[in-house]
Amino acid sequence: MFEKIYVAAASGTESVVKKELTRMGYGPGGADYGLIPVTGGIEDAVKLNMALRSATRVYSLIAEGYADNFDALYELVRAVPFEDFLPRDAAVNVDAASHRSALFALSAIQRVVKRALCDRMGGTMAESGKTYYLRCVINENRALLLLDTTGESLHKRGYRTYVGDAPIRETLAAAMLLLAGYRGGVLIDPFCGSGTIPIEAAMIATDTAPGLNRAFAFENYDVFPSETIKNVRESLIAAVKTDFKPEICGYDVNPKACELANRHLIKAGLGGKVHFQRRDAKELSSRFSAGHIVTNPPYGIRLGKSGELKSLYGNLGERYADMRGFTLGVITAYPFFEKDFGMRADRKRKLYNSEIESVYYIFNAPNKAR
Ligand SMILES: C[S@@+](CC[C@H](N)C(=O)[O-])C[C@H]1O[C@@H](n2cnc3c(N)ncnc32)[C@H](O)[C@@H]1O
Repeated sequence: MFEKIYVAAASGTESVVKKELTRMGYGPGGADYGLIPVTGGIEDAVKLNMALRSATRVYSLIAEGYADNFDALYELVRAVPFEDFLPRDAAVNVDAASHRSALFALSAIQRVVKRALCDRMGGTMAESGKTYYLRCVINENRALLLLDTTGESLHKRGYRTYVGDAPIRETLAAAMLLLAGYRGGVLIDPFCGSGTIPIEAAMIATDTAPGLNRAFAFENYDVFPSETIKNVRESLIAAVKTDFKPEICGYDVNPKACELANRHLIKAGLGGKVHFQRRDAKELSSRFSAGHIVTNPPYGIRLGKSGELKSLYGNLGERYADMRGFTLGVITAYPFFEKDFGMRADRKRKLYNSEIESVYYIFNAPNKAR
């Protein structure tokens, strides 16, 4: 127990999460229905929660085994020594998922897991104490019983407290930056809105772990010693390059968006690390000859009308033609993007932006072909 971890990744971001894990020294296995296995204990779960940028959640494995009927699932769960880590008064919340399995009724799976757990703990539980979040996932008849160590999804970094127009999830913004090959250096977001992409870029450039300013479910679990949590947090804080000022700019035509972005930047503890300014994307330019442009322009579905988008994307293409030293990454659900932009992307990937199926187009700088 607590020797294996499953990291959850949103659809389309599995490879980038795996790359992050590899860079952190973990040897990730293949992603199965969005779950990536790595070997790791309690301390690793704490570190991955605080440091991963593109993952959505981190689970510690409690038990796994074959379960193509409810008796097998009951026996699997009943055999877990819950008494070793669950307080007698723990409130236990069980959720479930199933893919291509004989057991697919989620509420029945939840019920059986809960019953086996209560039986193991000697009958009914008081449930008046701390809440423990369990998840039972059954993929192709293989059951995983997981302890959710994250709580609120990892995209909730804690800095974006004010609501802008159609903001992108922080984990998706980080995945876009990493997919475009951004590791620090010059970054421009010409449609920055509430500042998510430039703020995530500033975290990458300054080696700031994204989870330093938020709470996690594991802080409530007795099996996660507070000393371990404190040590991991302190070592991540010590790694931050505080005196480094990256060349990151966020522009938006709406001055209120720039104000909001600045407030979020300060909340993220990165005040002064990004230059936000009101500017129309028609005027996009840079004093640098190389770097990255990563952006989430209006789509038409949530913002902008399709006629306006044609000229907006056309203008972006013209501006980019003068900035070919830059790698450009654009996420949009606008179906005619490449046509109106005027270029074919070097790479494309299907990503979901708040449930909206979108495409992430990457145009490599000429000497950055991958
Ligand atoms: C989808 S939102 C960006 C959301 C952002 N990624 C975030 O997380 O908050 C698109 C933004 O483009 C801005 N915008 C629209 N037309 C623009 C233009 N011509 N030039 C610059 N910004 C523009 C809007 O004001 C809006 O904030």
